[in-house]
Amino acid sequence: MNVEFYERIWMWAAIGLLVIFLGTIVLTAANDAVHPPSHIETVDPETLASNPEFGNPAVAEHPDGSVVVSVVSQLYSFIPDPIVVPANRPVTFRITSADVMHGFEVVGTNANATVIPGYVSQFTLTFKKPGEYIVGCNEYCGVQHHNMVGKLIVRKESR
Ligand code: CUA
Repeated sequence: MNVEFYERIWMWAAIGLLVIFLGTIVLTAANDAVHPPSHIETVDPETLASNPEFGNPAVAEHPDGSVVVSVVSQLYSFIPDPIVVPANRPVTFRITSADVMHGFEVVGTNANATVIPGYVSQFTLTFKKPGEYIVGCNEYCGVQHHNMVGKLIVRKESR
């Protein structure tokens, strides 16, 4: 079969792009822990106030050393604020929304989740560097979206 020279170039270019794109997904998944959403858990956004976990969202340190942060996103803030967590320990974030879709991004880290009313977004990560981090909403949620900012404080572990 005779394939034109230029057509051959385009065919290989298309295959090359596919390899690059797939390679990028594999690389970021392996090196940067960039994963598609995998945690499916629902919660009733209408009754968040009386929910045992999200009625009073807070940072919980369990006796086994694990840290769980429950967060409610709402127009236009995150509760609790600031969020204070220890460094060098796995921290599990559990985030839901009280109204519309929001984002939860810890600037400078790969903590980044879409927050959808009715669902609990969950991910776990370990902060190595103590300090103050900005938590930003990265889904347009209304006129004050740009002011929806919170603070995360990573404190030095003292044990
Ligand atoms: Cu919440 Cu943008």
